[in-house]
Amino acid sequence: RGDSRLKAISDAIRVVPNFPKPGIMFQDITTLVSNHKIFKDTVDIFVDRYRDMGISVVAGVEARGFIFAPPIALAIGAKFIPLRKPGKLPGEVISEAYELEYGNDCLEMHVGAVKQGERALIIDDLVATGGTLSAAIRLLERVGAEVVECACVIGLPEVKGRRLLDGKPVYVLVESR
Ligand code: PRP
Repeated sequence: RGDSRLKAISDAIRVVPNFPKPGIMFQDITTLVSNHKIFKDTVDIFVDRYRDMGISVVAGVEARGFIFAPPIALAIGAKFIPLRKPGKLPGEVISEAYELEYGNDCLEMHVGAVKQGERALIIDDLVATGGTLSAAIRLLERVGAEVVECACVIGLPEVKGRRLLDGKPVYVLVESR
């Protein structure tokens, strides 16, 4: 890719070895979003890609998807909805469980937040195994939304060469280091 902004974005992500557990190379995006130009470039790349795709809902995955999804939603004229960890949303929810390295977790979405036939974009900071994004896709498809694409700032090598997740395209800006 010939986009010089991508190298700056990659360089702005701090890699922290052995956090939060031994063997994990944590990809810290706080150092990216604390640089105004690089944060804006990151959001702009997504906005340029999605502005004319008829997307009505941008779903952000807790927690770090909440940093990137709202500015994208505002810029493309879509609503933002949060996909939350269990027990956080006060209204009626639907849930989808997914596997973690150790144990399970779950994402929840408010019933009624998305209508049948809406075109959805799913945003997270990072895709590793894809388990989290798969749960997000299932939530949106259960209410009849069309998932146009999933987009992340960072993709781990596991997802490299696998451009589809549950049949949905995954768009990644940079690979993890
Ligand atoms: C991280 C990351 C993604 C997910 C990706 O979240 O922000 O949501 O893992 O992993 P996967 O592709 O293997 O599913 P984490 O589970 O650490 O939750 P947090 O953002 O609430 O800390």
